[in-house]
Amino acid sequence: RKAKLWGGRFESQTDPLMHKFNESLSYDRVLWKHDIRGSIAYANAQVATKILTPSERDQIISGLQQVAKEWEAGTFVPAPDDEDIHTANERRLTELIGPVAGKLHTGRSRNDQVATDVRLYVEEETKKIEEILVDLIQVMTARAKVEVDAVMPGYTHLQRAQPIRWSHFLLSHASSLLTDLSRLRDMRPRISVLPLGSGPLAGNPFSGLDRQAMANELGFKTVGMNSMHSVSDRDFIVEFLFWASLTMIHISKLAEDLIIYSTSEFGFVQLSDAYSTGSSIMPQKKNPDSLELLRGKSGRVFGQMSGLMMTIKGIPSTYNKDLQEDKEPLFDAVDTVSRSLQIANGVLATMNIFPEKMRAALTPDMLATDLAEYLVRKGIPFRETHHISGSAVRLSEQRKVPLSSLTLADLQTLSPAFEEDVQAVWSFDESVERRDATGGTSKRAVLEQVERIQGELGAG
Ligand code: ARG
Repeated sequence: RKAKLWGGRFESQTDPLMHKFNESLSYDRVLWKHDIRGSIAYANAQVATKILTPSERDQIISGLQQVAKEWEAGTFVPAPDDEDIHTANERRLTELIGPVAGKLHTGRSRNDQVATDVRLYVEEETKKIEEILVDLIQVMTARAKVEVDAVMPGYTHLQRAQPIRWSHFLLSHASSLLTDLSRLRDMRPRISVLPLGSGPLAGNPFSGLDRQAMANELGFKTVGMNSMHSVSDRDFIVEFLFWASLTMIHISKLAEDLIIYSTSEFGFVQLSDAYSTGSSIMPQKKNPDSLELLRGKSGRVFGQMSGLMMTIKGIPSTYNKDLQEDKEPLFDAVDTVSRSLQIANGVLATMNIFPEKMRAALTPDMLATDLAEYLVRKGIPFRETHHISGSAVRLSEQRKVPLSSLTLADLQTLSPAFEEDVQAVWSFDESVERRDATGGTSKRAVLEQVERIQGELGAG
């Protein structure tokens, strides 16, 4: 018996190390379901080409279903010579139904087969990831709604800048994730293209092959336009990896902010025990390992993207075995990004916040911009008011008193436009409420963001 499916023209065995080097079954087995689905659609299409009689088709399909059951039950036993999921499934099909199995691969190549399997996989996984991402954004918006009254310092350069709502901060991250959601949805039509029916590179030679019917059966939106392109195009994987990298960059930034906010120095948030770990030596420690791993995993996913891009950058047209190297980065990125989004969800759903700590961190100098804007409302150009307010900050530093403790007389030495009503500037709540333009941090503007996010979540 020929051990390898392609053994006909070979005289001697593959070197054992070469077999190990060449095989992909150890990881592409995750494609078993997609491989069976693709083969069933292909078998169905072979009745019209007269390659299969309806009864041969039925035999092949029930054999394939049997193979699927074995994978499902964990009883599929790989043979030593199985190279990849495609050869493994065909070998097993032959054992189960005999020589008629040998008709299935007519006109097909592992080149159009693997491209089909991977597209089915990416379609399925991105749908799951989309749901996970929607859940995460929902957790963030729900928190933003409940905790809308908490006011905290907003930072630029990590220096106290202006008061903001905690919910405004949360929704800034939700906004990034919302663009990720939109990008994920945008990728769909480019993933959902059928390669099957392209053969090894030049197309399928049997008349009557209805590629549109196969696309319909497999749920693809369109049929690949050019067979040489179809068997070699991995852009959809690169695009997914870019998507995953950018999404992880957003998760990493959120993680970094929360790590800072959970230090004793800030104390704005505290992670639940479920997402923290202790120290093996320092009994008091509660470390935000979940967040640090989220930050770290972003580097890993970016590495998968750049790795695959390097792999494919120099290869000639159509299928080359280099393309087998697309799978591990893809599978790893799928696992990493979906787990990361779920962990981020858990962290955010269970974390405590300390609004009184946030409020205690607000300092009157954060209202220096509001002070300048007070004078603007008195008719002075902003460039001048910025300068006057800056002088007030300097004066308060010289006097070693908070900005809000300068007396009206002090302020009037800087500008005669200051009046009694300047006292109203020193309210953090009014400061955030004044920022009421769309996209701002007033309660109304924040709740408007919640509405808008919820609308877009439902628009998938
Ligand atoms: N395991 C291969 C891969 O993942 C399947 C395609 C093999 N095609 C070939 N002509 N050797 O890319």
